[in-house]
Amino acid sequence: MASVQAYPFRISRISDVGGAEIFGVDLSQPLDAAMKDAIMRAFLEFHILVFRDQELTKDAQYKFSENFGEMEHHVGRLPNGKPYSIVHTVTNLDADGNPIKSLKAEGNYFWHTDKSYHAVPSLTTMLHAVELPESGGGDTQFANTKRGYDALSDTMKTRIADMKVEHSWEASRRNVGAPPPNAAQISERPPVVHPIVRTHPDTGDKTLYLGHHMSHIVGLDKDESDALLEELSDHTTQDEFVYTHQWRTGDYVMWDNRLLLHRAMPNYKFSKDRRLLHRTVVIGTAPY
Ligand code: OGA
Ligand code: MN
Repeated sequence: MASVQAYPFRISRISDVGGAEIFGVDLSQPLDAAMKDAIMRAFLEFHILVFRDQELTKDAQYKFSENFGEMEHHVGRLPNGKPYSIVHTVTNLDADGNPIKSLKAEGNYFWHTDKSYHAVPSLTTMLHAVELPESGGGDTQFANTKRGYDALSDTMKTRIADMKVEHSWEASRRNVGAPPPNAAQISERPPVVHPIVRTHPDTGDKTLYLGHHMSHIVGLDKDESDALLEELSDHTTQDEFVYTHQWRTGDYVMWDNRLLLHRAMPNYKFSKDRRLLHRTVVIGTAPY
């Protein structure tokens, strides 16, 4: 399917919900202004860009990512207590490089948008697929929350128009059954409040800003808040609004965290196969 815009690379839409594959761009090379502008336009049109067949070092990934804004550091800690490096890995391999025995309570497997527990969350996350499960699977899903918002009834749009949600690292850990953060981590990442209905800063589109880093809707009692958040989340993650990315080695994917929820799928042999991606996160702007 052709794009409505002209681009200086071969690009084709992957799904109606979002996603385009791009061929013939070498991300390890410096970007000139025209190419950067074209990538940004494609990013706003398709929300998920899949650059095929990329070979780049972590250093080159860092340099490419930096074109799009300030780089995010990570709240998580390695088993030795050190913070992750800015280009870190998303993987099922343990410190010795062996597949883990069983899946941990990991946030990535629940719908979320990256860093929504920050006052200034992520614009885009970029993953470079270095090793993928030999027997298949290990997909990533994306839900388009502009589509979700647009499809709400007028009554619901009016009901949620001015609602705000508290997001926190603590709630995030609780929601996925992970061990709670320590006091230092909690004070390092105090709870933040964001609108439920977010306005996309580049397009003006309205989106639903949800995900498992949420604690509650401000001013509602817990039961009502839980029920409404579940209803909205279920609504915007129904199949109609979801694209499932089946990775190929060398894929370099960047997605728009302001408009999408995403999650990793545990649909692979994580105790046998290897899955390793290099990851960078670029900081965006405060939601409004
Ligand atoms: C992430 C993430 C999903 C995956 O890197 O932010 O959620 O499929 N990854 O690894
Ligand atoms: Mn994520």
